[in-house]
Amino acid sequence: MDKCLLIFLLGLLIVVQGLKQEDGAYNVVPELESFEIEDDTEMEFSDDVSWMSQRGAKVLVNVDSFGAAGDGVSDDTEAFANAWDQACSNAKSVLLVPPQRTYLVNATRFKGPCAGKLVVQIDGTIIAPAEPRNWDPKNPRIWLDFSKLKGVLFQGNGVIDGSGSKWWAASCKRNKTNPCVGAPSAFTIDSSSVIKVKGLTFQNSQQMHFVISRCSSVRISQVLVSAPGDSPNTDGIHISGSTSVVIEDSKIGTGDDCISIVNASSAIKMKNIHCGPGHGISIGSLGKDNSTGIVTKIVVDTAFLRETTNGLRIKTWQGGSGYVRSVRFENVRMEDVANPIIIDQFYCDSPVSCQNQTTAVKISQIMYRNISGTTKSDKAMKFACSDTVPCSNIVLTNINLEKQDGNAEVYCNSAQGFNYGTVHPSADCLTSSVKDTDALVSKDYVLPEPGREYEDIVHTEL
Ligand SMILES: *[C@@H]1O[C@H](CO)[C@@H](O)[C@H](O)[C@H]1NC(C)=O
Ligand SMILES: *[C@@H]1O[C@H](CO)[C@@H](O)[C@H](O)[C@H]1NC(C)=O
Ligand SMILES: *[C@@H]1O[C@H](CO)[C@@H](O)[C@H](O)[C@H]1NC(C)=O
Ligand SMILES: *[C@@H]1O[C@H](CO)[C@@H](O)[C@H](O)[C@H]1NC(C)=O
Ligand SMILES: *[C@@H]1O[C@H](CO)[C@@H](O)[C@H](O)[C@H]1NC(C)=O
Ligand SMILES: *[C@@H]1O[C@H](CO)[C@@H](O)[C@H](O)[C@H]1NC(C)=O
Repeated sequence: MDKCLLIFLLGLLIVVQGLKQEDGAYNVVPELESFEIEDDTEMEFSDDVSWMSQRGAKVLVNVDSFGAAGDGVSDDTEAFANAWDQACSNAKSVLLVPPQRTYLVNATRFKGPCAGKLVVQIDGTIIAPAEPRNWDPKNPRIWLDFSKLKGVLFQGNGVIDGSGSKWWAASCKRNKTNPCVGAPSAFTIDSSSVIKVKGLTFQNSQQMHFVISRCSSVRISQVLVSAPGDSPNTDGIHISGSTSVVIEDSKIGTGDDCISIVNASSAIKMKNIHCGPGHGISIGSLGKDNSTGIVTKIVVDTAFLRETTNGLRIKTWQGGSGYVRSVRFENVRMEDVANPIIIDQFYCDSPVSCQNQTTAVKISQIMYRNISGTTKSDKAMKFACSDTVPCSNIVLTNINLEKQDGNAEVYCNSAQGFNYGTVHPSADCLTSSVKDTDALVSKDYVLPEPGREYEDIVHTEL
C-alpha cells in the first residue's frame, strides 16, 4: 500500500478515536434516549394484604401483644423492640402496627438479618418524642433505623410522624444564633437489598424523612411525604450509596428536596412523582469538602412540580471530584417553579462563602426531554458549570418554559451541549465543541444533508 495513504488512514483513525473519546458524542443521543433502569425487587410473596386469609401461612406479630399501649403518650419503644426480635427471628412473620392507634417510640435500631419473608404492616401511627433535649444521645442522627435486611416488605396506610417542629425551631437555618447540629432522619433503610415500601405516609420529620443508604433493589410506591415548606432540611426521600432503586406514584411536599440522590448511587428511576412545596428533585449535593461524588444512570420520567424553588437540579460544590453521568429527565410539567432546569456547580450551602477551586465533579450526558410549564425566575434554564471542568453533552429537546410576565432566559457558563426539536427559551449559549452533525452520528442515525435541522433527523426516526 502507498505509504502516504497508510499515514492518511492512520491519521483519520486517530482523529475519529480522538473525537469519540473526547466527547463520547457519537452515541450520546441514542444512548440517553433509551437506557432503562430495571426493577429487580420481585419477591416471592405477593404484596397484597391477603396474608390474613392465608390460613396461617403467615405468623402475626402484633406490637400490642408485647405491651404497646398505643395511646401516643406511653413509651412503646421496648414493645416495638421485642416485637421486632420475635418477627425477625421467625420466617413468614407479619409485624403489625395496628390501625387507629398512636405509638410513641424512641430512637431505635431494628437490625437484620431476619428469617425469610418478613412483612412490616404499619396501619397505625408511630410518633417520635417531640423534645430534642431529651433525644437519646447514643442515636443523635436516627429515629427508626432498619439495617441488614433482605427481602422485606413495608406497607400499610400508617403514618410515620417525626414530631419535628421543635427540631426545626432549634435549627441554625431558622435562627442563626443556634448551633448547626444535625437532627435525626425519621425512617432509614440501610445496608439492605430487595426491599419494597408501599403506601406509607411520612410526615413532619426532624430532618430527612426517608433515607435509603447502602441498599440495592428497592421499590418505593404510593408513598406520601409531607412537611411544611419552611421546615429546614426535611428532604423527602434521600438516596445514598444505593443502586437499582425505583420510586413511583408518590407525592412529596417538604421544606427541602423532594428527592435527593447523592454519592455512589446508580440506576435510580423516579416515575410519576408529584413534588411541592420543596426544593425540587436533586442530584447532589456532591463534592463537599473536596470529596468524591459519583452518580450515574438516573431517570426521572413523568413528574409534576409545583411552586418549588428548583425543578430538576444537579448541585455540586467547588473542589470536589468524581462525576455525574447518564441522566434523563423527561415528561415533566412545572408550575411556578423558580429554577425549573438547573445545574449548579457553585453550590454553597454554608454560612461562609465558598471559593472557586480548580477541581469539580464532572457533569456529562444529561438529557432533558419534554419539559414544560412556567418559571418564576427569569432563568428558566441555568447551566452554571465549572470553568476548569465544563459540563459536556447536555441535550435538550422539546422544552417549553414560559415566564408569566416577562421573558424567560437561559444562562450558561462553561456548558457544552446541543438541542433539537422545539427548545424555548432557546439555549444558544450552549457551546458545541464537535460539529453539530457529528454529535448525532451513530449507526442508528442517518446523516442529514448539510444545513438540515436535527428536527428532520428525529422525525425520520419516528
Ligand atoms: C425513651 O427516651 C426517654 C427520654 O430520653 C427515656 O426517658 C426513656 O427511658 C426511653 N425509653 C426507652 C424504652 O429507652
Ligand atoms: C434565636 O435564638 C436566640 C437564642 O436561643 C433567641 O434569644 C432569639 O429570640 C431567637 N430569635 C428568633 C427570631 O427566634
Ligand atoms: C463516595 O463513594 C465512593 C464509592 O463508594 C467512596 O469511595 C467515597 O468515599 C464516597 N465519598 C463520600 C464523600 O462519601
Ligand atoms: C480543598 O482543597 C483546596 C485546594 O487544595 C484547599 O484550599 C481547601 O482547604 C480544601 N478544603 C477542605 C475542606 O479540605
Ligand atoms: C410530555 O410530558 C407531559 C407531562 O408529563 C405528558 O403529559 C405528555 O404525554 C408527554 N408527551 C409525550 C409526547 O410523551
Ligand atoms: C466562580 O466562578 C464563576 C464562573 O466563572 C463566577 O461566576 C463566580 O463569581 C466565581 N465565584 C467566586 C467566589 O470567585
